[in-house]
Amino acid sequence: MKLLLISDIHSNIEALEAVLAAESDADAIYCAGDLVDYGPFPREVIALIRDRNIPCVRGNHDVRVVDFARNRGEWEGLPPEQHHWVHQNANALASDEISFLAGLPESIEFSSDGHDYHMRHHGAEGYELIQLLPQFEAHWSGGSSPDLDPGRTARLIVGHTHIQAVHYLASDRLWLNPGSVSYRPTRQDMDMSRDAEYMTVVDGEIRFHRLAYDRTRTRMYTNSLTLAPSEKQVGYRIIGTDG
Ligand SMILES: [Fe+2]
Repeated sequence: MKLLLISDIHSNIEALEAVLAAESDADAIYCAGDLVDYGPFPREVIALIRDRNIPCVRGNHDVRVVDFARNRGEWEGLPPEQHHWVHQNANALASDEISFLAGLPESIEFSSDGHDYHMRHHGAEGYELIQLLPQFEAHWSGGSSPDLDPGRTARLIVGHTHIQAVHYLASDRLWLNPGSVSYRPTRQDMDMSRDAEYMTVVDGEIRFHRLAYDRTRTRMYTNSLTLAPSEKQVGYRIIGTDG
């Protein structure tokens, strides 16, 4: 069994297409949230996720775009550095696409190759790591996962930080973050790679991946948009400053 684990796509259709093409032999695909915001192609990303029927949880940026679309008045008057891309993405989406984002579940549970999985976007309120077993178990019991079973491994999948990691809290308890398909976070400025990051799990073995992909379409479209300087800076994390 081969699982493909992706997260934090952020409206980056070229990265998503490249990863799905590279891992076309995956038996199942799961996404840990943030389909949209901070990138130029929210419609295309949502369409591909729906077309491939990829289970996905709700990320904080999915919530932001839904909130902007449904409560525009509350966003009026805020400076661009507090909007970033939310208005561009919300304005690009049709009402059924906003409803799709609003309907994403907070958690998804599944089992594969003797391991139980619980997937959610956030591991913490901010960007803190899950360091303690009680934190882990609180997340686990927050969904509909089976009770922790000493004969099986409990694996928590989280996104949000955009930093790939596998972290063992016990021999049968771990959390993993597939990294961002789209971009590295500002908190990790020493890593300016533009590659897509994701993970696969092959017969239970977790594997890290990085994939270079063509960003021409994203660069050309982003450069054609009218964006505030702070919004452009966000876009440059995906497309680089050389285009
Ligand atoms: Fe994200």
